[in-house]
Amino acid sequence: MTSRKPRVVLGVSAGIAAYKVCELLRRLTESGHDVTVVPTEDALRFVGEPTWAALSGNPVSARVWDGVEGVPHVRLGQSADLVFVAPATADLLARAAHGLADDLLTNTLLTARCPVVFAPAMHTEMWEHPATRENVATLRARGAVVVEPASGRLTGKDTGPGRLPDPAELFEVARRVLARGAAPRDLAGRHVVVSAGGTREAIDPVRFIGNRSSGLQGYALARTAVARGARVTLVAANVALPDPAGAEVVAVTSAVEMREAVLEAAADADAVVMAAAVADFRPAGYRDSKIKKTDGAEPEPIRLVKNPDILAELGRERRAGRVVVGFAAETDDVLANGRAKLARKGSDLLVVNQVGADLTFGRPDNAAVVLGADGSRTDVPRGPKEALADTVWDLVAERLFPGEEAGHASVRG
Ligand code: CTP
Repeated sequence: MTSRKPRVVLGVSAGIAAYKVCELLRRLTESGHDVTVVPTEDALRFVGEPTWAALSGNPVSARVWDGVEGVPHVRLGQSADLVFVAPATADLLARAAHGLADDLLTNTLLTARCPVVFAPAMHTEMWEHPATRENVATLRARGAVVVEPASGRLTGKDTGPGRLPDPAELFEVARRVLARGAAPRDLAGRHVVVSAGGTREAIDPVRFIGNRSSGLQGYALARTAVARGARVTLVAANVALPDPAGAEVVAVTSAVEMREAVLEAAADADAVVMAAAVADFRPAGYRDSKIKKTDGAEPEPIRLVKNPDILAELGRERRAGRVVVGFAAETDDVLANGRAKLARKGSDLLVVNQVGADLTFGRPDNAAVVLGADGSRTDVPRGPKEALADTVWDLVAERLFPGEEAGHASVRG
């Protein structure tokens, strides 16, 4: 471990979203990173050199011909701990994929041996064009993290995928990729599905049966998977958290809706992690109008029917090459109940945590035991939910690529 500031090269190519990257730069410098901004010549038409220089505290150049005595086209890439390109235009992705070196940023990309992240932003047609798709696939195959753009309003009147994700969320990607350091982007090119939050089962238009799940653990799983290079579908039930950069968020309300969204996304998935708290039951009948206290002297009982068990359904399907992970919240006999649930649900892994009024729900940290269908047991001490998330992905990766070096040790028991 060194005590020097982590060095980040922030590449900026010529997209209107460059203005949002000022906020990413500010977050990076304020959290103790030494940032050198390397814009392309045309990017300076959107945000000028004085802004980048003032916010980074470092000189800014787009050209290989400035300060040549310091050989910046080689030095910047060689000494960086992270190169983060935002926004990455279609043109920049193409030049990077083909190894062109016609300005300081593309030279830096060729000399960098550290993790590289691209955050593309462009119009939907450009993002979906086969040329861009191939360039993105090439960059991912080489180990770069290419963050999926967000969907929404683009410049002009059109909407669709192509927006630069929120700068605060891009900062989270940078932080996690830096924290992972030289560890491989072992989920690159993989599609993972994560469910998060808690379902709500409607009683009438204003009332529902719900639970206390905050979605924090599922969102931590989505964010860590993005940093490991995965394409992430996040099926979120009633979560009040910002969309993680790089994850496609599918919002659902009830267990039935969640089942539909998860099974659809799971069709081509390499892993499905059911971190959501899914209601086991729902009211048998939905009342179209609000139940009034004047409807009857005594309140009518609410009859419940069983919801589909999504995890058990995935477990029964048992598709080769797809790893299925469940979560179990237990209040007592944690291990015995966990083993029984693992067998009953037919999943490959079960993350068991002990819950109570003051444990787990809504807290940023978590402790758990991860049980494997192969008899393994991995204890995860109390720590940030993102540490548990990384352990889950280590165990998933072990099962996706059996025989390759494991990220950490688990014991048989
Ligand atoms: N789950 C699911 N569909 C349901 C209920 C739960 O997919 N209808 C998933 C959860 O997402 C979680 C796992 O199953 O990954 C465990 O849920 P839990 O409620 O603890 O298990 P149950 O089978 O409901 O067991 P019990 O209520 O007896 O604890």
